Amino acid sequence: MQHVAESDRLRVDGVVLKLSDVLILRGVSLVVEPAQTVGLLGANGSGKSSLLNVISGYYRPSAGSVQLDGVDVVGWSPARIAASRVGRSFQSIGRMEDLTVLENVLLGLEPVWPARGLATVFGLRSSRRAEAEARQRASEIIAEFDLSAYRDRLLSACPYGVRKVADLLRAMVSSPRLLLLDEPTSGVSMEDRRYILELIRAWTARTNCSTVVVDHDIEFVTALAHSVIALVGGAVAASGGVAEVLSDERVMATFVGSAK
Ligand SMILES: Nc1ncnc2c1ncn2[C@@H]1O[C@H](COP(=O)(O)OP(=O)(O)OP(=O)(O)O)[C@@H](O)[C@H]1O
Ligand SMILES: [Mg+2]
Repeated sequence: MQHVAESDRLRVDGVVLKLSDVLILRGVSLVVEPAQTVGLLGANGSGKSSLLNVISGYYRPSAGSVQLDGVDVVGWSPARIAASRVGRSFQSIGRMEDLTVLENVLLGLEPVWPARGLATVFGLRSSRRAEAEARQRASEIIAEFDLSAYRDRLLSACPYGVRKVADLLRAMVSSPRLLLLDEPTSGVSMEDRRYILELIRAWTARTNCSTVVVDHDIEFVTALAHSVIALVGGAVAASGGVAEVLSDERVMATFVGSAK
């Protein structure tokens, strides 16, 4: 019988991913424990986003397993994985431009929204109550992270940094047990970067969620992560402490000239 360590929040074992006959991930394994943050480093095209897509159910691996608290979730839909309290932020924002900040954050509660009953008076009533509660929850997190001034503004009319924060709040609003953050500071100013760093730090400390954070800014990743993993060509080249990983020759060779 396979031994499952109960303390693992996320356990990825030997994940292989092929897309259009191209091998993207070549047997990736990693473990994230409860309340731990793991940084995922790697040059452009090394497979970081693809790995997050496998964990969150957007891509189905051709081999290997992904376990959440000991339960294999390979084959689950992205909606089912999100509903089991996995939050995901995206590298490229901008697909939801015609939503307001509040509507965008509300999307993060939709997977965990109580099932809408039959369209009876009682069903409608409880669904209305659930919606009011969701709006209140979304408004609270928006206020907590100082975005109230933008709450009812369309994302397309918000500064880029605000849109990045709105995407993070969408991923965090359901208080996920696992948070997957894909380049939360790409393209933002130094000031916004510091703000986002403190936001993630405050959130993970308070909710004890486990986090995988991808970023090209090594200082940013170092400030957040308890340990890091470096991907080179779709495989784990090194893992452990930041200094240890960055001293690996293969990792360094791919970083030279690749950091954005
Ligand atoms: N849908 C797809 N079909 C085919 N190849 C893909 C697909 N998505 C990604 N790839 C390829 O998979 C490889 C890994 O891409 P991925 O986006 O995971 O890298 P990344 O490490 O996130 O890079 P970046 O730092 O630029 O975001 C790249 O070579 C990319 O071209
Ligand atoms: Mg990526």
